[in-house]
Amino acid sequence: MAVSSSSSLLLLFLVFGFAAATKDVLLGGKTDAWKIPSESDSLNKWAQSVRFQIGDHLIWKYEAGKDSVLQVTKEDYVSCNISNPIKQYNDGNTKVRFDHSGPYYYISGEKGHCEKGQKLTIVVMSPRGGKSPTPGAAISPAVAPSPAEVAGPGPAVAPAPTSAATVLHGGGVFVAIGVIVAMWLF
Ligand SMILES: *[C@@H]1O[C@H](CO)[C@@H](O)[C@H](O)[C@H]1NC(C)=O
Repeated sequence: MAVSSSSSLLLLFLVFGFAAATKDVLLGGKTDAWKIPSESDSLNKWAQSVRFQIGDHLIWKYEAGKDSVLQVTKEDYVSCNISNPIKQYNDGNTKVRFDHSGPYYYISGEKGHCEKGQKLTIVVMSPRGGKSPTPGAAISPAVAPSPAEVAGPGPAVAPAPTSAATVLHGGGVFVAIGVIVAMWLF
């Protein structure tokens, strides 16, 4: 009895401890990722593989004076306009904290680099873990799908359940880790 209740307590601490932890992430997982990429969307592909949450930090390493990081609006991100950054960093060791959910847009401050693909979108998950409510998921069966939706093979619908599933899956992993550690301890 005593063992089982302390196990559950430990489990709770483990689950909440992991859930509350924020992380420091090095851009691209390496120190020289902030440069013109060989594949134009490789930075964003990397970014999509990381689950950024509020409180997480992203760290850019680059040579100070040779490059810089500009946080810009979506419009300036798309057009690679470096003339009105929201924030500007050029110290070579830039650490940004994400204090709200949603998209963040970054481009290189060096002329011509953004056009060659040195740009990055980070989407920070909402506190509940989802990127946003999924409009498609809530539509009742009474609403007839548009011809485009009927005709399409349907891959556009696929991402909707994934975010919820990922969250559940993530929780499951922590619970599993907790169970394994608890079993090992007792
Ligand atoms: C960049 O944005 C500024 C202000 O919005 C604008 O005046 C300028 O023409 C833009 N430059 C380019 C190259 O689009």
